[in-house]
Amino acid sequence: MREVKIGIVLGAGLIVLAQLMTARAVRAETGVFATTCAVCHQPTGRGVPGLYPPLADTVGAYVRIPAGRRYLMDVVLDGMAGRIVSHDVTYNGLMPSFANLGDGVLAATLNHVLFKLNRRLLPAGFKPITASEVRGARHDKLSAAAMSRERARLMKSLGAKVPDAAQSEAR
Ligand code: HEC
Repeated sequence: MREVKIGIVLGAGLIVLAQLMTARAVRAETGVFATTCAVCHQPTGRGVPGLYPPLADTVGAYVRIPAGRRYLMDVVLDGMAGRIVSHDVTYNGLMPSFANLGDGVLAATLNHVLFKLNRRLLPAGFKPITASEVRGARHDKLSAAAMSRERARLMKSLGAKVPDAAQSEAR
């Protein structure tokens, strides 16, 4: 009985800790999103049709598979150029690399995009992106062409697993 009680207390403590960590991760980066990403993607994350793709109600669907998590880190680390389609609108722009920002800052910025702008699409039990994951993603510097291929592969896998998640879900 005592073990059960201790277990419950420990469990509750872990949940509170996890919530605190999530809250901190989400709070920390709003600033970087506002000063850096919002210039193009807009403070609402809705983007500018034809120029800057939306980050709201899109990328939350990408993280339904592990490759999507990695894709988001790769985009901010390596930037992106070339033709993409998001919600049926075509973009052919240039996203600069933000590898100069720290691992924790990038993780927190992506968590802001995911938890604040894509909450509805996040898979159940989705765990925030961590600084050490971002550090790990720094190793393979991707060219613009490789980045485009990575997105195309992701969209294909998502289409197979989550029909229409990438293109037509949300709004
Ligand atoms: C100078 C403008 C600019 C800034 C600043 C910028 N982006 Fe982008 N971003 C773009 C463009 C343009 C694309 C699409 C590139 C293409 O057409 O190949 C893009 C694409 C993306 C994508 C891929 C979206 C998808 O549906 O695959 C993500 C994720 C992203 N940006 C996140 C960010 C984050 C996070 C920041 C801030 C750290 C940021 N961007 C800052 C211009 C920008």
